[in-house]
Amino acid sequence: MADASILVVDDEENVAMTIRAILQLDGNEVLAVTSGSDALRLLRERTFDVVLTDLRLGDTDGTEILREVRRSHPETAAIMLTGYASLESAISALRAGAYDYLMKPSDVEELRATVARAVERRRLRQRLDQLEEVDRLKTQFLSMASHELRTPLTAVSGFIQVARRRILRELGGDDMPQRARDEATRAAETLELAQRQSRRLARLVDELLDVSRLQLGRVELRRDELDVAALVREVAERTRIADADALVELALPEGPLRILGDQDRLEQILENLVGNALKYSPEGGRVRIGARADGPDAHVTVADEGIGIAAEELGRIFDLFYRSPDPRANHVGGLGLGLYISREIVTRLGGSLWAESEPGRGSTFHVRLPLARVETPVPTGPGAATRG
Ligand SMILES: Nc1ncnc2c1ncn2[C@@H]1O[C@H](COP(=O)(O)OP(=O)(O)O)[C@@H](O)[C@H]1O
Ligand SMILES: [Mg+2]
Repeated sequence: MADASILVVDDEENVAMTIRAILQLDGNEVLAVTSGSDALRLLRERTFDVVLTDLRLGDTDGTEILREVRRSHPETAAIMLTGYASLESAISALRAGAYDYLMKPSDVEELRATVARAVERRRLRQRLDQLEEVDRLKTQFLSMASHELRTPLTAVSGFIQVARRRILRELGGDDMPQRARDEATRAAETLELAQRQSRRLARLVDELLDVSRLQLGRVELRRDELDVAALVREVAERTRIADADALVELALPEGPLRILGDQDRLEQILENLVGNALKYSPEGGRVRIGARADGPDAHVTVADEGIGIAAEELGRIFDLFYRSPDPRANHVGGLGLGLYISREIVTRLGGSLWAESEPGRGSTFHVRLPLARVETPVPTGPGAATRG
């Protein structure tokens, strides 16, 4: 371990100089001082990766140096040097914030190893701080960008609708020459296409917003009593309307499957799973959605006969931004957000979401959510106590 900056504090000059020489040989920048006051002055002026300090200094107590390190350079690793093999001094050093301690006179290898460990820890700490900062900035950026995109998008979509309605109203009258009527009809159709694309864009931006809200812990989920079977039926119906070629089959129980959950969010998750099932299947692929009660849970499955998922990817597809390297999945668009959002929400609702697949033959996604407990009426009134 080299290139670390180290401060050595020991009132015995030969000890300080020996330690300095040993650590310099490893390529470190080492400053050695023999008094507590010099050490405190240096600590006010600059930072070190590691501080080694004697417990008993002529003018100062070594724990004071440790405290100063902890106060003004919490990321610096401090090592206590002690001439006394006493548990008490070691404990007081660790309490004052020492990362480790060394007994004097210490073995050269032990000194080098202890310092190397402290430097390594300090490097990892710095790296962690950097990564945390980058992660924080990323989350912040995601949140700002998605909000900034949402506003003009809502306006664009609103203006398109207004323009289309105006044209349709004109077309409704009968004072328009045929040529203008044809033009207006085409314009209305074009606006319809623009509207569809802006809706698609809005869905993507909403997914980005969801990710940033989930990461900031700002997603509020409702816990309404609802029927999962009815929800599945609705989503299937909507899929058939949106995509006339979609082959969606249902396997549902006779009665309702009551759970406590968030209707909009559960629809979003089912739409996601059904959307993926269609997206990652060849044209005309069949999708089967099933729901049933299983023990204390409602168990929903969305099965397709599509390209499938390689075993080593099954755990990763729920990661943020994960998209399969499978070339058969590349022609379809997507940001790799849907499954991440879906799993986060299912988990927050007390359930679980996972996938199984036979590569080349299809995939099945499973959602389990606890069934709403049916309240058993508590017997009350005069006879209640005696009924046993
Ligand atoms: N039904 C499925 N069949 C095969 N692969 C799937 C299926 N659903 C999801 N995947 C894989 O998981 C990845 C992540 O899915 P998702 O989070 O919905 O993002 P996106 O669909 O935007 O890529 C997809 O890119 C795809 O590789
Ligand atoms: Mg998707």
